[in-house]
Amino acid sequence: MARKKIIAGNWKMNMTPSQAVALVNELKPLVATEEADVVFCVPAIDIIPAMEAAKGSNIVIGAENMYFEEKGAYTGEIAPEMLTDAGVKYVIIGHSERREYFGESDEDVNKKVLKAFEHGITPIICCGETLAQREQGVTMDFVRMQIKIAFQNVTADQAKTAVIAYEPIWAIGTGKTATTEQAQEVCAGIRACIAEIYDEATAEAIRIQYGGSVNPATAPELFAQPDIDGGLVGGASLKADFGKIVNWK
Ligand code: 13P
Repeated sequence: MARKKIIAGNWKMNMTPSQAVALVNELKPLVATEEADVVFCVPAIDIIPAMEAAKGSNIVIGAENMYFEEKGAYTGEIAPEMLTDAGVKYVIIGHSERREYFGESDEDVNKKVLKAFEHGITPIICCGETLAQREQGVTMDFVRMQIKIAFQNVTADQAKTAVIAYEPIWAIGTGKTATTEQAQEVCAGIRACIAEIYDEATAEAIRIQYGGSVNPATAPELFAQPDIDGGLVGGASLKADFGKIVNWK
């Protein structure tokens, strides 16, 4: 069965609650499509107003992060149940910015992935190499390690529903999109890694996005690749361009 594309925006640390409502209202008619799942991952404080504004549309609201404990003395963190109670279905886990600026390790990512599944939230699990790693020729080794740790103790049935976002760090926010060949090569390698950990059926089911300076010009070729099932979009998800990316065909 063909995998349905999933195109997600990652708003990062942008948009106040009132700006979030305005942006959802602006983009609603532009991102209407039956062909792809459309997710807006927004700052925690924007989740509820964005969800209200998205009612009646195909937009699904997701979160950008979540903690791996149930609740308690973790000042500033967001519990899984806070997300499910608000109706959140997707959460980005292990974005490179969280790894770099907030010290998230592969082990943290794994704990968050397990916790998300426990609560019925689909994790969008991020991986990707630095420019130095690409130049050293260790891209696939590094990404495979990230994937293998992220999926520790995740069952095949859970893994089938997961989303992986391959985001080369050097392509994020730089305007440098990976070439279609580079993106397809790593996404195929990730799928092969999932087949090794689980089996072919799991590898065929899992959805793998590309992220890093995706724009309306690069999206069509990227999304036409056999192992690229959509995109995780930063900057371009904050403007009308996102409508063009979602309707890439
Ligand atoms: P840009 O699309 O702004 O490069 O961001 C990519 C990204 O990090 C999405 O998670």
